[in-house]
Amino acid sequence: MEKILITGGSGLIGKNLSSYLSSQNYEVRLLSRKKDLNNSSVYFWDLESGYIDEEALAGIDHIIHLAGAGIAEKRWTAKRKNEIIESRVKSAELLFSEVNKMYIKPKTFISASAVGYYGAVTTEKVFTETDNPENDFQGKVCQQWESSSQKFSELGIRNVQLRFGVVLSAKGGALPRMMLPIKLWIGSALGTGNQFVPWVHIDDVARIIEKAILDEDISGPYNVVAPEYKTNKELVEAIAWKMGKPLFMPNVPRFLLKLILGEMSQLVGSRISSKKILDSAYTFSYPILDKALSDLLSDDN
Ligand SMILES: NC(=O)c1ccc[n+]([C@@H]2O[C@H](COP(=O)([O-])OP(=O)(O)OC[C@H]3O[C@@H](n4cnc5c(N)ncnc54)[C@H](OP(=O)(O)O)[C@@H]3O)[C@@H](O)[C@H]2O)c1
Repeated sequence: MEKILITGGSGLIGKNLSSYLSSQNYEVRLLSRKKDLNNSSVYFWDLESGYIDEEALAGIDHIIHLAGAGIAEKRWTAKRKNEIIESRVKSAELLFSEVNKMYIKPKTFISASAVGYYGAVTTEKVFTETDNPENDFQGKVCQQWESSSQKFSELGIRNVQLRFGVVLSAKGGALPRMMLPIKLWIGSALGTGNQFVPWVHIDDVARIIEKAILDEDISGPYNVVAPEYKTNKELVEAIAWKMGKPLFMPNVPRFLLKLILGEMSQLVGSRISSKKILDSAYTFSYPILDKALSDLLSDDN
């Protein structure tokens, strides 16, 4: 049974991934900032003091690095920006030095990244993995985040950077946040509504991570987004339609978004290509938004 260590495994993606990988017969360990005395598969680490419970890494086959302070959780003050970067980069560096120190050689190091790599501009361009990062905050975060995981090449460890789009789940993240105003009949598109929202169903995220574990040809950056492009307006309308609550409010004006969210009002923007992962023979379970929403908004979820 292969052993997998997931950092940030208590989060939205991590929880779904852990239960998926356990169901596929992997031994799953979680590395967390919170001790859980009732769960022997949770191991403790502390970024401040540079501590990792060595037991977490003993005999490990794959590391999946998902930990990071929420990008869209709080306003981007200078302090918060620093936390966003350090929680991803310092943590990867700590894992690197511990792996090096313990003379262990996991087969893969898979790190989360985000389509924020390409910036929040809406253009006609469809971005691919060979494009350069944007010179804004998100672009810089993703660049440093990815560099810290590429460092594992120095130890001869295959590394993969997964640039997630907006992960759709019924259990948290963007979808419930978009559903709330619709439920209250005050849902509407944001700004012009024409900005693209690269999206992906959470089950495809788990299956793509498993593909990255199993397929030795997978290496370097991959966009993890569904092949169907949707604008913010189309996405909000599709959710409202599925909820049986049509939209009648005008779009939220851009200046108001900026006032409420500051720099954070610019989270997504252009179309992002899924060609590279499709070319690696991955078949999306949810390639179309309509199918993804039918699943996520069904009573089973
Ligand atoms: N969800 C999305 O739509 C999306 C899109 C693009 C990229 N991503 C990226 O994918 C990763 C996983 O996403 P997610 O939605 O599962 O995130 P999440 O629900 O916010 O979970 C992230 C986990 O990281 C750990 N964490 C939080 N703050 C931290 C800090 N200051 N220092 C160290 N660890 C910290 C926490 O685990 P413990 O409390 O157990 O330590 C937390 O459960 C994140 O890095 C995120 O930026 C997500």
